[in-house]
Amino acid sequence: MRLFYGLSLPSDIRASVASLGRSCEEIIPGRYVPKANYHITLAFLGDVPENRLDEAKSILSACIKSCPAPLLKLQETSFFGKAQNAILIARVHSAPALDPLHAALISRLDQANLPYDSGPFAPHITLARHARLEGVCLPAPTPLSFAPTHAHLYLSARNEENVLTYTPIFSIPFIDPAF
Ligand code: 2AM
Repeated sequence: MRLFYGLSLPSDIRASVASLGRSCEEIIPGRYVPKANYHITLAFLGDVPENRLDEAKSILSACIKSCPAPLLKLQETSFFGKAQNAILIARVHSAPALDPLHAALISRLDQANLPYDSGPFAPHITLARHARLEGVCLPAPTPLSFAPTHAHLYLSARNEENVLTYTPIFSIPFIDPAF
């Protein structure tokens, strides 16, 4: 099972990011991510044997159960990689930073001998892959803020129509800072 931990977007934020995606699509060729697949990755595990699914869930629970919900804000449109073949993203600012949560997840995955991607962590929403953005001025996102209520364990799989879908299969609430 291909798994990752992540955050979903409330519908107003999803709509706003989709509008940003459409503005980008008018000026930047690329393979655009369907609105339904927008998410913020917290840590990518990769292929996990089905008999280790409960451990992957427990790690998310252990890391989120004492964690207040972060306040996230759409920050800027940017990219990873090279301008002629880029991953087009909306950067997400978080207060407090998501880095300690990412580090805690990675550390527990490592202790459990579960797989994980150890690459650099920069919170973002992927808008498009194979984007060609030489010479374009990137449209800015509307600087909306939101507090995710839950963190999820996602299953990445192709559906019957062979479309890649990201499905939350386990969710854990953040602590409500009001309590
Ligand atoms: P991203 O769009 O936030 O980069 C499912 O594969 C999701 O996991 C991808 O959309 C990607 O989210 C994220 N991911 C992070 N590291 C990855 C990796 N090494 N390989 C594939 N996906 C990765």
